[in-house]
Amino acid sequence: MEQRVRSPSRLRGTVVVPGDKSISHRAAILNALASGPARVESFLVGEDTRATLDCLRALGVSWSLEEGGGRGPTLSIHGPGRAGLRESEDVLDARNSGTTMRLLAGVLAARPFFSVLTGDSSLRSRPMGRVVGPLREMGAQVWGRGDGAYPPLAIRGGELRGIHYRMPVASAQVKSALLLAGLFARGETAVEEPAPTRDHTERMLRAMGARLSGEGGLVRIEPLERELAPLHLRVPGDISAAAFWMVAAALHPDAELHLPGVGVNPTRSGIIDVLRAMGADLEVTEEREQGGEPVADITVRSSRLAPVEVSGDLVPRLIDEIPVLAVAAALTPGRTVVRDAAELRVKESDRVATTCRELRRLGARVEELPDGLAIDGVQSLKGARCQSHGDHRLAMALGVVGLLARGETVVEGAGAAEVSYPGFWSDLTRLASSAGGGLASGEGEQVKGAMRRGDRT
Ligand code: S3P
Repeated sequence: MEQRVRSPSRLRGTVVVPGDKSISHRAAILNALASGPARVESFLVGEDTRATLDCLRALGVSWSLEEGGGRGPTLSIHGPGRAGLRESEDVLDARNSGTTMRLLAGVLAARPFFSVLTGDSSLRSRPMGRVVGPLREMGAQVWGRGDGAYPPLAIRGGELRGIHYRMPVASAQVKSALLLAGLFARGETAVEEPAPTRDHTERMLRAMGARLSGEGGLVRIEPLERELAPLHLRVPGDISAAAFWMVAAALHPDAELHLPGVGVNPTRSGIIDVLRAMGADLEVTEEREQGGEPVADITVRSSRLAPVEVSGDLVPRLIDEIPVLAVAAALTPGRTVVRDAAELRVKESDRVATTCRELRRLGARVEELPDGLAIDGVQSLKGARCQSHGDHRLAMALGVVGLLARGETVVEGAGAAEVSYPGFWSDLTRLASSAGGGLASGEGEQVKGAMRRGDRT
């Protein structure tokens, strides 16, 4: 699937972004470990979270999705209790989703049965040693290609013991896998992180009655004494999805976009801090709490930006936003440098290499660093044919470039957006065509309709 995008003369409107991907995965997995029914409103139904739900069904968990009034459907899920999961008859397919594979590896390491976790070709090339190593230290029997380095993973679950583990990389997926294994281990499990990473698992587990404590990058969890209580919640809007519109609005010369109900958890809000440090006209209002998470409305208007340096502890707070931040930097005069982000190389694609390669096609001046990017902003970019490399975040970042570049941008492999933001291209088309001057076209009925409207303008 390919998408054609042109820059509209104006970019104005409201975008209700889908539910947060990380929180949706956790709401499904943690409620599957609880005892009793739970309802999760505004659940993200993307390729990744579908993979989680399908794995849970194969493990004997019943759930259904119903039309909801919020930003997405409502998930009804019935947790079978801590001893409730049962062996799957078939391999569990996490598809493109690292969160599914790593969090489920933590859960299944403690279940007294055999499981095999696999994924698509991207996921099968992503590092799993980071979870397999500490799980083995806890006493788990886990195998994988390259002595546990890569999927598929085979797990013979059993008794685990708590460990104190110092993570060599800042990874919320690894931290979460170990906390979930720790729930079912003997003795306390402690996880130390080199820099703060997203804390959705900790927030949710506490709300469900788990005994968790933590300070200064050290989280401790006690084994479960009684069942986890099911957790009803409404998932906040995904800040990682909102980031595409924040960058589009800040860089477009005539823009104002409203993004209501976006999660602004401080472990995720690095993109807001960086765009503001660059000088973006970005307002955060109506801060409130929803489902144990801070949420706010965000408004972004056309801005004149200045370059920044991004490194250190800030990186895990915006790791998934770096491809679209690179788009902002490519059109911001001066040199923006992103460092300490070697993790980008082991995401859905090698995002250092793919972001660099694709932005160059449009005339951006981007240099690949071993652990990041150096970008010398130019006055304008020229639309070109580019490709997503099957990476959802790159596909959408290229869509944003299309809204800002001269001429037409063609994004090959645009369907990758389905992984985390199924309505991305229709939101883009609606925004671009309602401005009167823009045209975005592609496949699918909704998009074709917009294309016809665009043809007349
Ligand atoms: C995620 C954590 C991050 C992030 C990913 C989702 C999560 O990965 O990049 O998109 O839901 O825990 P790492 O924890 O591996 O850095």
